Amino acid sequence: MIHNTDENLLDIADLTKVFSLRQGFSTTKLVAVDKASFVLKATQPEIVALAGESGSGKTTVARMILGLTEPTSGIIRYKNKNLTQLTRQEKRSWFLKEVQPIFQNPFATFSPLKRIETYLFETASNYNVVEKENVNQYVDDILNLVGLSLAEISGRYPNELSGGQAQRVSVARALITAPSLLVADEPVSMVDASLRMSIVNLFRQLKDEQAVSVLYITHDLATAYYAADRIAIMLGGWIVEYGSVEKVLGQPLHPYTQNLKQSIPDPDPDRKWEGQINLAVLETDEFTNMGCKYASRCPEVMEVCKQKIPTDFLVEDRTVKCFLYEDKNQA
Ligand SMILES: Nc1ncnc2c1ncn2[C@@H]1O[C@H](COP(=O)(O)OP(=O)(O)O)[C@@H](O)[C@H]1O
Ligand SMILES: [Mg+2]
Repeated sequence: MIHNTDENLLDIADLTKVFSLRQGFSTTKLVAVDKASFVLKATQPEIVALAGESGSGKTTVARMILGLTEPTSGIIRYKNKNLTQLTRQEKRSWFLKEVQPIFQNPFATFSPLKRIETYLFETASNYNVVEKENVNQYVDDILNLVGLSLAEISGRYPNELSGGQAQRVSVARALITAPSLLVADEPVSMVDASLRMSIVNLFRQLKDEQAVSVLYITHDLATAYYAADRIAIMLGGWIVEYGSVEKVLGQPLHPYTQNLKQSIPDPDPDRKWEGQINLAVLETDEFTNMGCKYASRCPEVMEVCKQKIPTDFLVEDRTVKCFLYEDKNQA
């Protein structure tokens, strides 16, 4: 892994989360995120996808970045600052403006009894982002960025909006503080299939025109392929393959990614992406062995895979956590 922090907006190194689950009198440990490492570059805005089946640890990674879950070990640096070392003041006046979450269900964040524009005005006022007399213009400008206007949503309640519109409003709310990074956890999975690509396009547009980077978390490889510059594939808390989308989804090297690729349609940007491709769900007891977490399902499994945990090997501009590539350069 490259850890030249000056060049990174977000730098995740060996991030680990172990949950302790109490079952009667005994406690079992669940490793939800297992030494995950990836970066978002600072040199230019980018969209990095974190993709994996349900339960692979994506949301736990997001929650640790957002400060909602405490890491068990590992480091999260944002703009060169170690997040666990931020003072309360730095957190409130800096970090919470810089890094904004987008959640799966836009309606869950809006009260049904509150006019939707209230959220935008409240956020603007809480963070003191603009003079009072300019706030209407400011909110309208932000809504324009997401393809809406203040006139359009004024006076309306959440239930009067479509899922797509509500998600646009939650993106607008996230943009109020002029963040550099959006952490979007399954932001389109509750949006109608026909509107999904328009939301994904919105992220690309925000990257290109507003220099906003996005950590795009999804279990849907089609939108990941379309939206992201780079991608990290998660499996059982590991990142098993990580590199440019063209490389990782175009010519996957890890047997797990290769298996996934069979479910990805041709990379044609003009085609319609109406379907959603879900990653297969593995049985969790497959992860209890000592070796590779994919060993029990891997068509290329070797003896070593059942005995040792693979490290990250650097092959063809991406990292691959697989012994097949052991004789190549090690990351
Ligand atoms: N608060 C928690 N307590 C215990 N286990 C949890 C908690 N949150 C998540 N997990 C477990 O951690 C694993 C990863 O979950 P999650 O990060 O939500 O995965 P994903 O977002 O990829 O579906 C799952 O096995 C899940 O059951
Ligand atoms: Mg999740």
